[in-house]
Amino acid sequence: MSDITDAARAILAFNDRGGYTVPTDALYPFQWNWDSAFVSMGFATFNIDRAYQELERLIEGQWDDGMLPHIVFHVPSDTYFPGPDVWNTHHRHHKKPTTSGITQPPVFGMALRYIYEIALTEGREDVLARTRLLFHAALRSHRWWMKVRDPEKRGLVAILHPWESGSDNSPAWDEALARVSTITKTEICRQDTKHVSAAMRPHHADYQRFIHLVEVYRECKWDPVKQWSAAPFKVADVQMTAILARATADLIWIASHLNLLDEINELSTIHRILLDGLRGRWRNNLRGFVSLDLISGKDIQKPTQAYFIPLIAIELDTYQHEAVQDEIERWCNGMIVGVPSTAPFSSDFESKRYWRGPVWAVINWLIVDGLCKNHLAELAAIIEGNTINAIERAGFREYFDPITGEGLGGNSFSWTAAAYLVLRHRLNNQ
Ligand code: DGY
Repeated sequence: MSDITDAARAILAFNDRGGYTVPTDALYPFQWNWDSAFVSMGFATFNIDRAYQELERLIEGQWDDGMLPHIVFHVPSDTYFPGPDVWNTHHRHHKKPTTSGITQPPVFGMALRYIYEIALTEGREDVLARTRLLFHAALRSHRWWMKVRDPEKRGLVAILHPWESGSDNSPAWDEALARVSTITKTEICRQDTKHVSAAMRPHHADYQRFIHLVEVYRECKWDPVKQWSAAPFKVADVQMTAILARATADLIWIASHLNLLDEINELSTIHRILLDGLRGRWRNNLRGFVSLDLISGKDIQKPTQAYFIPLIAIELDTYQHEAVQDEIERWCNGMIVGVPSTAPFSSDFESKRYWRGPVWAVINWLIVDGLCKNHLAELAAIIEGNTINAIERAGFREYFDPITGEGLGGNSFSWTAAAYLVLRHRLNNQ
């Protein structure tokens, strides 16, 4: 085992707060939904029990209606804003830890399959009951997604808040977010800029709109039907839909192993619906998949990493195959490390600001996975190698400047450590 693998494991240990892992100390002091799903896969490369525990702690926050919230506030901390008092969600999930009121990409199902597969190769038959319990939690959350976030049956699930996408200040949301008021009743006490330079974070006006949206939904008492009608921001997101579709395929795989026939049928229907929805979002002229602004009815054409995330779920046709390869190569041309989260030729590109250009190891992990699934192994290997090099050069930072390779944002970041462990694990097992 290399020193760097040791260091990645040490970061997960350092960020462990008792069976769950914070994304990083101080900046993100609670359990985050998709961070934990990625982290659990990192744990699975060396400690199966701890991997299961990460997901078990996450579902402690699951709402009665199946939603898996984006933050579980297991213990108080004053180093993050907005905390539980701003969300005020208690009544939605009785006798459980307090949580935020929105969700995040459902990587959970992908993680569960990954962990379960490793457990099986290690001959760990004892994980069956734990797998079954987590499978049913995931299934309830997928039902929630389909019912609550695709009520108009487009085969695409919608986000009602940019934080749900995980790509908070992506240029993809600029136009839709500009319609949201900057007026808030809540005093905005940002903590993030105390930990990280403001030049790398979303702008103040973004935060005003983020908090305005929280207030709109809080006034709906977090009732999903009321939220759907009241939402001033509503985007059918291809990245979210692709992750849900892929996680659904992974749940079908688990259900087959567990011999759960009704669940296989139910999930197969969901899977078909989502794949149909995704296929309709391809645009030849843009060489990628685009989200749909449900309020304006317009395509969101801004070139962001979301263009390529559907590869994790669908098989490209011959034309798309070549187009995607050319487009990713174009985005990476001249970069020390790709894939930038916003195309470098776009006027929105900022190489150091959060989701407006920097490279994220977990996004590259998904893109590598999607390229491999679509038989683009050579390009996948280049991106994988560059990601590993970027981490080895700059450390386990939150994200990386694609032009200089500099590590940016939070330090000792759990999901970057997990990405390193998983990408290395794959290389070692090839
Ligand atoms: C933040 O606070 O920066 C998060 O991305 C919201 O989840």
